[in-house]
Amino acid sequence: MPKSLLPPKVLSELKRQLNHELSAAQGYLAMSVWCAAQNQKGFARFFAKQAGEEREHAGKMINHLVDRGVAAKLEAQPAPRQDFASLLEVALHAQAMEQANTQGINAVFEAALAAKDYPAQVLMHWFINEQVEEEAWAAELVDRVKGASCAGSVSDLDRHVEKLLAGDGEKEG
Ligand code: FEO
Repeated sequence: MPKSLLPPKVLSELKRQLNHELSAAQGYLAMSVWCAAQNQKGFARFFAKQAGEEREHAGKMINHLVDRGVAAKLEAQPAPRQDFASLLEVALHAQAMEQANTQGINAVFEAALAAKDYPAQVLMHWFINEQVEEEAWAAELVDRVKGASCAGSVSDLDRHVEKLLAGDGEKEG
């Protein structure tokens, strides 16, 4: 493994963010479990897939650090929120998580800019684009759940949610 050449602030921001991505994976898995228990199988699959994507996001950062001589330390994750009163609460929680994640990604990029760390800047371009997609599907999810006003329309949405959000949520992670 090469000796680390990362600026300290970029290193600390990447470590923080990759652990945040793992925490998001846990968060989505918890939402998937909640949906499965409500017999919302489409939503359960959708959130399970999001959990996988968040792990892939952490993996991209882990690989970047390894390539630059750092074996990132994984932290203990807090228990994710798993109590929801409604599907709308789940959707709003997903949206809030993505909005918070965008702030985290931007903080890494700002550290990379300040340190003139060009490799980290290029890495973060991918994440900045990804967050546009992540926030787009989260906003669409909230709108669609709000628009499903009866049990029948919620059930219909559950059947189609993966396909409806595929343009954003199913893109290569
Ligand atoms: Fe890693 Fe949902 O962004």
